[in-house]
Order: sequence, then C-alpha cells, then structure tokens
Amino acid sequence: MPYIFQLILFNMSMCLFYQNVLCQSKMMKNFLPKENIIPKKHVSSLNLDIQAEEFRKSSKKVTKYESKGLPIVHHYKYVSELPVGHRFAMKKFHGILRYLRQDNVISMKQVVEPCPLDMEKMSGVHTTDYLKKFFNGLTSDNEQRRTGFKWTPGLVERCQYETGGTLLAAQIAHQKGLACSTGGGTHHAFPSYGSGFCLVNDLAIAASQLKEQKLAKKILIVDLDVHQGDGTAFIFQNDLDVFTLSMHCQNNFPLTKQKSDLDIELENFIEDLEYLAILKEHLPHVLNTFRPEFVFYDAGVDPHVNDELGYLNLSDQGLFDRDYYVLKLLASHGIPCATVVGGGYSTNREQLYIRHTIIHRAATKIWNENL
Ligand SMILES: *[C@@H]1O[C@H](CO)[C@@H](O)[C@H](O)[C@H]1NC(C)=O
Repeated sequence: MPYIFQLILFNMSMCLFYQNVLCQSKMMKNFLPKENIIPKKHVSSLNLDIQAEEFRKSSKKVTKYESKGLPIVHHYKYVSELPVGHRFAMKKFHGILRYLRQDNVISMKQVVEPCPLDMEKMSGVHTTDYLKKFFNGLTSDNEQRRTGFKWTPGLVERCQYETGGTLLAAQIAHQKGLACSTGGGTHHAFPSYGSGFCLVNDLAIAASQLKEQKLAKKILIVDLDVHQGDGTAFIFQNDLDVFTLSMHCQNNFPLTKQKSDLDIELENFIEDLEYLAILKEHLPHVLNTFRPEFVFYDAGVDPHVNDELGYLNLSDQGLFDRDYYVLKLLASHGIPCATVVGGGYSTNREQLYIRHTIIHRAATKIWNENL
C-alpha cells in the first residue's frame, strides 16, 4: 500500500506507529564510529533540501516527510560564535551532521529544518522576566557566568533553533515513531535562570508544547547525560504527567541536586556492563508503571571514559549498546521517542563529534530493523 494511504487510513495508534517505521531503505553498514576519518569540509554552507515549513504548521502535515529514512532534525543555526578555546564545543552540531553524511549513516533527504521558537512558546516553562532579560541581553554578569557563556545575540538565536529542533523532532516522532535532533538536551536551565551551558530548557519546553498541542499527555524524559537533569527535574517536580528519570554520576556537576521522579546515582568510573545492567534494572519498570505515551531521550555522551567532565568509564561500544537498548525497549513498547544529543566534552573535537553520532547510528539501526 502506498505510504501516504497508510497515513490516511490509520489514525494515531500504535498500529500506525509500527506501519510508519517500516522502512525499505538500504542496509546501513557503519553503525559504529570510524575513528580514522579526516574531515574535509564544513557543512554550514550546505543547502538543506527539505524545508520544514509543513512540519511546523501542524503536526498532521508531518505526513509530507518524503524520505523513508530516519528523520534527522538539524539547522545550521544550532551553532553560534564563541571565543576561541571555549570549553563548549559549539561547532559539534555541524560536526555531527558532517560525520553522519560522510559515513553514509544518513542522506540529506532525511534532514528537516526547524523554525526558531519564539519567546511566547517558552513562557510555559520560563518566567517572562527571565526570557525578556535573556532575549534582550539584560542578564547580569553573574547570571551569564553561571551559564558559562558571555551573552551574544547569536546565543539567543541558537537557543531558539535548538529548542525548535527538539520540538520538531518530537512532533515528527509522534507520527513516525522516532526522530533525532543533532542538538538539544539543555537540561540545566531553570525557569528563571540559565546554568551549565544551558540557557533555556529545550526538553521541558518541547514536553510542555506536546502536552499543550494534545499530542501526548504522559511524557517520560530519560536523561542519561552524566550530569543530573536538575533544571528539568525542578520544572516538572509537581507535574504528575511528566516523569523525569536521570541517571548520572553522583560526584559531579551540579553540586546541589534536584529531585527527579527517579534519580539513579552512579559511582565514579563504572564501565559498560555495570552501567547497562543498572539501566536495565530501572527503565523497564518505569515504562511498565508510569506508562508514558511519549519519551524524550537525552543521549549525552559524557559518560565516556575520555570525556573531560564525566568521571565514568564507558566506551564507544558501551554508549552504542546503551542507546540501542533504550530505543529498542521503547520500540518494543510502541512508545514514540525523540532524541537529543546532550553533553559531551573533549578537546579532541573530531572524536567528540563522532561520539555524538552514536545515538543517530543506533537509531538508524532500530529504524532499519522495522522496530
Ligand atoms: C577509568 O578510566 C581512567 C582514565 O582512563 C583510568 O585511569 C582508570 O583506571 C579507569 N578506572 C577503572 C576502574 O577502570
């Protein structure tokens, strides 16, 4: 049956979910990172050949997505200028897309561009006072220091696109079962201030928007970044419809932890097998008891042994196995999922970019396996 008719004939059910993810695209060979690739050029000047206009107007229009591949959400404006040598690898959002293409994990046909989100759409999560200050460059030096960024207009625009990207990924995933942004995961942002490289909380904003648009009522945020998702936990602490799960290194930023619905605190230096075993102890139970209709997955790569801010000892393979396990479990429950990249810190920028593509590689494998 032609794809478009499937979409017309079935409504938003698990049935549709499974139908949509059936995918005939070519077998992917390169699921694991190739470490030896030398980048040739930057992708910021590429013309993205699918516009996301139709995706934004209403989620129903998402049916116009033309590729049979895993939807990838990206915008070159995820990146803004930072001073040379800044700890935050701002260019990673371009680097991720570059490696995904270079390794033939995706084609540009799969890439959709988000719109920038305006202040009003963020106001369900953040205070108007903070948004006005942030959008207009009126945050104090102290407030800026806490975020790790000196304010620039580019940072505001970047946040608008990145948050729009997380929301777009969620809207597409709601229809297609799975979609991955090449950015997102700014989980340290609180309602009235930014913190730890996070200026607005894209996960919280997208989750609130999904609820507001009645696309999902019960939402689970699985945050496997090595740092606690403190902003997200705080924002949803009294919201019974959003379950926050954070699995993180306990002796790490943020110093003052918030209370997630489930915090899984890890000892320093744990390795692949132990990490995965702990995750497997908890995630199925949360799915079976909370029964989410939608999941946001923050696939931070900072539990990696070479991460400079992580203190855990996972390998590339360990991260791949983790991501594959999470997505496979969600697929087997028929729960749609949008993924964001989360944290990752290394002065070896190329290795970091590649590491951040592990989630897209795992998602591609899941997609191609028809769930
Ligand atoms: C974890 O990795 C660090 C850095 O490579 C290493 O020094 C340490 O011995 C490892 N710890 C364990 C328990 O394997």
